Amino acid sequence: MSRVYVFDHPLIQHKVTFIRDKNTGTKEFRELVDEVTTLMGYEITREMPLEETTIETPVATCKSNVIAGKKVGLVPILRAGLGMVDGLMKLIPAAKVGHVGLYRDPETLQPVEYYVKLPSDVAERELIVTDPMLATGGSAVAAITALKNRGAKNLKLMCLIAAPEGIKMVQEEHPDVDIYVAAIDEYLNDHGYIVPGLGDAGDRLYGTK
Ligand code: PRP
Ligand code: URA
Repeated sequence: MSRVYVFDHPLIQHKVTFIRDKNTGTKEFRELVDEVTTLMGYEITREMPLEETTIETPVATCKSNVIAGKKVGLVPILRAGLGMVDGLMKLIPAAKVGHVGLYRDPETLQPVEYYVKLPSDVAERELIVTDPMLATGGSAVAAITALKNRGAKNLKLMCLIAAPEGIKMVQEEHPDVDIYVAAIDEYLNDHGYIVPGLGDAGDRLYGTK
């Protein structure tokens, strides 16, 4: 069974409140998503392995640590997941970025895949799949399946807000994928929206409707 981490850092919780607020405009919404993603990225990278190297400071030679291990790949689920890429790239600038294009059919709520483009060495990378919203879980499950079908082995899922239904579905379908969120909300309404949620993440990020 995969683990679920809820980042309860006060700065994250504070910023998520304003992300949720319907009076927060597009520019501020985008900036807040970026900031929260960076703060979550700080936590998600906490267990990265280190290795020792030798450097010279202006004063002396010393041993010091650098990040070791597998290279990272970021995989936003288009479109809203794109809003979380820059916030992570600030911390992991060498990460390669793959894209999975999915939209949720408004009637059936089923994900429809329209684009997949990944780094050629996807099998060797530690992948962080990003999407602000984990609602029914259909989109995240389809994206992770698409990645695994192309060789991905090591995946994490990072969302801002999740519904219990979405967490359950990802855990059932992909028990090897840990889930990182800023909040777990109450339930999904009849239209598949997270309650209280933040509305439509893609529309709020890009000013569409
Ligand atoms: C939203 C969101 C997720 C999906 C979540 O995307 O960004 O990808 O819905 O819902 P689910 O868990 O029930 O699948 P949407 O389909 O609105 O596409 P967009 O990002 O292009 O706006
Ligand atoms: N997608 C969104 O953007 N918001 C929701 O609440 C559910 C799915």
